[in-house]
Amino acid sequence: MGTALVVSRNARVVSLVQQSWGPDVLPIAPEVFPPNVQTLLAELGDAPMPAVVVLDPVERIQDALFVATDLDQSFGIPVLLVSDRAGEIGLAAMRAGVRDIVHPMAPLEEMKQALERAASHASPEGQQPGTQGAAPQRGKVVTVASPKGGVGKTTVSTNLAVGLAMKEPNSVVLVDLDIHFGDVGSALNIAPEFTLPDLAHGPASRDSVALKSYLTQHQTGLFVVPGSDSPAAADAVTPKEIANLLNMLAGMFKFVVVDTAPGLSEHTLTVLDQTDILVLVTSLDVPGVRGLRKELDTLRDISIVLDSRAVVLNFMHPSRGLSIGDVEASIGRKVDYMLPQSNAVPITTNQGMPLLQQNSKDPVAKQLRSLVDMVAAGDKAEAKGRRFLDFGGKKGDK
Ligand SMILES: Nc1ncnc2c1ncn2[C@@H]1O[C@H](COP(=O)(O)OP(=O)(O)OP(=O)(O)O)[C@@H](O)[C@H]1O
Ligand SMILES: [Mg+2]
Repeated sequence: MGTALVVSRNARVVSLVQQSWGPDVLPIAPEVFPPNVQTLLAELGDAPMPAVVVLDPVERIQDALFVATDLDQSFGIPVLLVSDRAGEIGLAAMRAGVRDIVHPMAPLEEMKQALERAASHASPEGQQPGTQGAAPQRGKVVTVASPKGGVGKTTVSTNLAVGLAMKEPNSVVLVDLDIHFGDVGSALNIAPEFTLPDLAHGPASRDSVALKSYLTQHQTGLFVVPGSDSPAAADAVTPKEIANLLNMLAGMFKFVVVDTAPGLSEHTLTVLDQTDILVLVTSLDVPGVRGLRKELDTLRDISIVLDSRAVVLNFMHPSRGLSIGDVEASIGRKVDYMLPQSNAVPITTNQGMPLLQQNSKDPVAKQLRSLVDMVAAGDKAEAKGRRFLDFGGKKGDK
């Protein structure tokens, strides 16, 4: 079980920990609360690293949060905080990776349970919570992608996410994986406090309770992970961190809708690995359709496994000189949804309120609603099972 290190000058708190944990308790009562993890670890001397740390900082809450973040991030050691200000500091503590806050006058049973819960979250070296196997009831990851830019991915993904959230509030999250130039925040008119890089590293990347506190909630009940507003921060996010974030979100939400940057970037390929439903968007023009054909070929070559997929043809207009038949012949499969060109769409983009949030009767909204229904119903169509992507190829052809 290991040692419980308790940093407290309160004899009652030390005794609570000793009665809860057993003989392996190392109490330290420094004159001044350790301002950083190095100072704390220096107090340990030759003793082994503790399995859990209980910090009772009294007024030095900020120092305790710094120490907790370091213990959690650098050593994977779970931290309990002792404080009578749980309501006031709860959110900051969660973001620092603190597992629980126990009142100094708490009954023994409460301390015991908090210590047991914290110890059960300890991360063995090299293994992080959130990456340990699939969640028992994993949500569906729905990725919206396209070979070219400006074809309507964000329009489709924001409407899809809002449409799903209006059906099932609090069970949908939208991730803006166009991390450099994403505009999901603006399309939904939200001013997020945290963006994707804040969630990809740090406490949120290890603990689903902390992760939830970093999400921005939209008025429809949709949760949002906006792209980065700093190119340097975006560059620092690795594909492994993206994979971990998606895995954690899929364990927390019924639907994870992902908006992507144009093309098959490293990040998009990482997401495709975890994607259940792929929505491919193209515009009704020769470069757009050719690009889609190439993307379909590439996906087939790399044998991406999916539950289902849909092709959305956007900017439909009779004057474009291409018919649906031309497009289907070129891409070698049928088009599932056809979105007409409509002035209503850029207006909603500029307003920051997707068509489906406005209960719009526009023909584009009608098509997007069918897409929402397909994705929502797909959730129940488990019997279909997974299959190899066979865009344009023979069944089973890789
Ligand atoms: N069916 C449509 N009719 C008219 N305008 C549309 C339609 N679909 C999208 N638009 C407009 O086209 C622009 C680009 O759409 P959107 O941002 O959704 O594309 P995107 O593929 O996400 O672009 P990027 O690759 O830059 O991220 C937006 O101003 C949007 O309002
Ligand atoms: Mg976009």
